[in-house]
Amino acid sequence: MRIVVLVSGTGSNLQAVIDEVASGSLPLEIAAVGADRPNTFGVERSADAGLDTFVVNFKDYTDRSDWDAALLEKVGSYKPDYVVSSGFMRIVAPSFINAFEGRYVNTHPALLPAFPGAHGVRDAMAYGVKVTGCTVHFADAGVDTGPIIAQTPVVILPDDTEDSLHERIKVAERELLIKVLGDLARA
Ligand code: GAR
Repeated sequence: MRIVVLVSGTGSNLQAVIDEVASGSLPLEIAAVGADRPNTFGVERSADAGLDTFVVNFKDYTDRSDWDAALLEKVGSYKPDYVVSSGFMRIVAPSFINAFEGRYVNTHPALLPAFPGAHGVRDAMAYGVKVTGCTVHFADAGVDTGPIIAQTPVVILPDDTEDSLHERIKVAERELLIKVLGDLARA
């Protein structure tokens, strides 16, 4: 199974996948890692691991549809079985979803359909829920929508900050993502 991983930020989930593949316990090939912006830690982690790394910089395109086309072309060129959005903070175009229908996997730091969007951890805390968690799902054209594959609950502690909670969610998220990818690879 070949995957392309898309990142926007620090790429800690990406690092977990890289480590797991390197250890031999996750039977897949990371064909490439792509980002929508340059100079992120995620891109650095990928390059350090010797992986094919590309940036389709959103800011380089005045026309959004040109960026959509460039991303689709670049990702498609690696002929991945699955594309993994691991902290990729862009909504992709319907053309991208169509090209990778049922093969575009997203991770989100909340129990979807609750608290979608860029601030899933903050929004859960602000609402005052006592349990949140993480979701791995097949993404469709919406914001963090599409069929859910797996979820893990995480209890919110009274003295949690957004950062402390997000860190605990990410621990669960890494484990969940690796399990889901392993299941897909072995299917
Ligand atoms: C992860 O918690 C991921 O679920 C979240 O961004 C973080 C990326 O962390 N994604 C979203 O909020 C998508 N709506 P990382 O760059 O350290 O892996």
